[in-house]
This record gives sequence, structure tokens and C-alpha cells, in this order.
Amino acid sequence: MTPHKHLLHLAFAGLLGLAAVSPLHAAATAEQRQAALLASSCANCHGTDGKLAGSIPAIAGRPASVLESQLLSFKRGEMPHATVMDRLARGYTDEELAILARYFANINR
Ligand code: HEC
Repeated sequence: MTPHKHLLHLAFAGLLGLAAVSPLHAAATAEQRQAALLASSCANCHGTDGKLAGSIPAIAGRPASVLESQLLSFKRGEMPHATVMDRLARGYTDEELAILARYFANINR
């Protein structure tokens, strides 16, 4: 192999390496896009980024596990004082609620 061909070979191996990594990367950004879209319907009440202070509880920066279990409880009708969240949560799959929980947990208050 000439030195030149060897370089090409290395470059090609590098490209293959990138291609092997990118599906993971694409999955992350797909979830981020889906999360932003889902979360946009929460902003009306909870404020942009879930930081609104007022009678509606702030949800940003809480642990994802707490948010997720609250959302699942709303969905299953296990939150006796719910006014709107019980109906709202039923509009999402469990997976979408988990995505929303992770999204708001990652926003700093
Ligand atoms: C129509 C207004 C409205 C919208 C839209 C809304 N929420 Fe709520 N949310 C509330 C109210 C009001 C409460 C207090 C519980 C209740 O009355 O149902 C609440 C409570 C919560 C709680 C529990 C917080 C706590 O400490 O008790 C979480 C978590 C939550 N909402 C997440 C979300 C997410 C995620 C979305 C978007 C999918 C969303 N909410 C959309 C009004 C809203």
C-alpha cells in the first residue's frame, strides 16, 4: 500500500466511525425536538420553561422521577385535588409523560 492509499484508508475508517456514532446522536436530538413540542402545550399555564410563579405550581428543575410519578398519578386519576391536570395527562402516553418529566427536570429554576 502506498502511503497515500493508507491515508485514504484511515480517512474512510474515520467516516465509518462517525456513521456508527450518529444514530445515537440523532435519537437524542429527536427526543429533544419532541420534548420541546410536547412541552409547548404546558407553557400556557406553567409559563415558558415551567418557571411561572403564581397559583399554578412551578415544575421546572424538580427531579424527573417526581414529575413523572405526579403526571402518571394525574393520568390514573389518583390526584384527588386535580382540577385540570387529570384530564390533560390523559392526552399523553406514559412515554410522552416521561419525556416531559425529563425535559422540565433539566431546566434550572
Ligand atoms: C390548563 C392549564 C394547565 C396546563 C396546560 C398544564 N398544567 Fe400542569 N398544572 C395545572 C394546575 C392548575 C395544576 C395543579 C393541579 C390541578 O389543579 O390539576 C398543575 C399541576 C401540575 C403538576 C404537579 C405539580 C405539583 O407540585 O403539584 C405537574 C408535574 C404538571 N402540572 C405538569 C404539567 C405538564 C408536563 C404539562 C404539559 C403537558 C402541564 N402541566 C400543562 C395547570 C396546567
